[in-house]
Amino acid sequence: MNAVSTRSAWQGLMTHHAHIGGTHLRELFAADPERGTRWTVSAAGLYLDYSKNRIDGETVGFLAELARDCGLHERIAAMFRGEVINTTEQRAVLQTALRAPLGAPLWLHGVDVVAQVHAVLDRMAAFSEQIRAGAWRGHTGQPIRHVINIGIGGSDLGPAMAYEALNHFSQRDLDLKFVSNVDGTALAEATRGLDAGQTLFIVCSKSFGTLETLTNAQAARAWSLRQLHDEAAVARHFVAVSTNAEATAAFGIAPEQMFPLWDWVGGRYSMASAIGLSTMIAIGPAHFRDMLAGMRAMDEHFREAPIEHNMPALMGLLAVWNTDFLGASTQAVLPYAQYLSRFPAYLQQLTMESNGKHVMRDGRPVGCDTSPIVWGEPGTNGQHSFYQLLHQGTRLVPCDFIGFGHGLNPMGTDGDRVDRQHDLLMANLFAQSEALAFGKTASEVRAEGVDEALVPHRVFEGNRPSNTILARQLTPHALGALVALYEHSVFTQGVIWGIDSFDQWGVELGKVLAERTAAELADTGNPALYHDSSTNALIQRYRQLREERP
Ligand code: F6P
Repeated sequence: MNAVSTRSAWQGLMTHHAHIGGTHLRELFAADPERGTRWTVSAAGLYLDYSKNRIDGETVGFLAELARDCGLHERIAAMFRGEVINTTEQRAVLQTALRAPLGAPLWLHGVDVVAQVHAVLDRMAAFSEQIRAGAWRGHTGQPIRHVINIGIGGSDLGPAMAYEALNHFSQRDLDLKFVSNVDGTALAEATRGLDAGQTLFIVCSKSFGTLETLTNAQAARAWSLRQLHDEAAVARHFVAVSTNAEATAAFGIAPEQMFPLWDWVGGRYSMASAIGLSTMIAIGPAHFRDMLAGMRAMDEHFREAPIEHNMPALMGLLAVWNTDFLGASTQAVLPYAQYLSRFPAYLQQLTMESNGKHVMRDGRPVGCDTSPIVWGEPGTNGQHSFYQLLHQGTRLVPCDFIGFGHGLNPMGTDGDRVDRQHDLLMANLFAQSEALAFGKTASEVRAEGVDEALVPHRVFEGNRPSNTILARQLTPHALGALVALYEHSVFTQGVIWGIDSFDQWGVELGKVLAERTAAELADTGNPALYHDSSTNALIQRYRQLREERP
């Protein structure tokens, strides 16, 4: 396949960039009074304003042409049809089937996967209801009060993010925790002071072969048995989510306590599957289905809308423009919602594990920069930390602002019709994107009577691009739409760069080396080391340190 940079639309974008590159957002807005409403799109209850990007009509035209040239429509259709688009792993990519309605069958190898999905959703719902109602009794006859999800990567980040994001809708007498790190501190702190008789572990691992998860699951099992003194207790206190029935059975989890998913669900795309069991226990099946409906609404929009009006496609194309033409290497995600505090971490895996790649699907070099480095924190906290760099640093950092029309915890006095604290939060969001785009010129600074020596310090050059996403309220539906929006934006970027967004070979080497090193550390005979001189010396130093008493 041809590298994207050889396509005529790419060449067109390069020439176009040479013309528009020096144009300030101030000029673009001055030239078009309608700009702030022209470059917007609504879908699935979300509103995207992308007018504060360094683009004009020609940019959008070239980007849409590029998407057509790269076969975006065809790739979308192939994904929804269940074709094997993850070619390096020979898998279909069907997270959209996880939120498809019953009665819209999708046949894969003679099986209706949508019917399969709904059968598992029903099992999850029945189990969740039992836990929520206190009807599921633990080994000592007590109801479950603590749920600990053990998993890592996609088996942790999605559910942990969703639990935080939808905490407002959660059943508050159930306490949920997430253990991912193989650092024993994670499990020790999560279980500290808990009664094992009231604690349920959900062991989430698509492969059921991930060392961190299995190690934590074994430790959790040992912790439970230290209190419950009976192997039979495992059946009441452990459930699994996996594609690997054999391995879960070997762990001691009976088939009826195993919630399946399928190889066509990628780990980082799995929060709508049984990997979301903890989410469903927290918020209940009805809210979980609302989340799926939000995802589905965005899926349908992505599948149907023309590129120029397609929210995820536009966001993905803008990411390509910012990365490859404006030279931005990172992307800040700034939710003005405390509940979305884990959203940037979730997006890191979604974006960087999907598109952090240097070769195309056929193995040839991509030939341009790929995934931006994603990072962020909720506003307004970030404003008092790293926003200095966003406004006056030497690097260009495109920002996604996310805000809502209503907060979920109004702070006004009874009878106040307006949530002043939420207004203040949103005022900050609007102020930040305005300041980034328009800045403050030296003459504006001087007009304020600022001492000449300080003028350079007080200038904001502006011209820093951002998107703003608004929704009415952070509901399960809105979260679902937001997640699907980013999933499909990442998909779009992958299509443009010609890469397989659904494999993750880049994590393998570290895993193999860690296993080899773990064997060396476990051997108390301190075997000879054959790494490089730095790694050898570090391992030797570690061996010495662990001999010393703390
Ligand atoms: O190491 C990367 C990865 O394979 C992720 O893609 C995945 O989400 C995570 O590990 C966990 O995998 P599993 O669910 O199979 O334990």
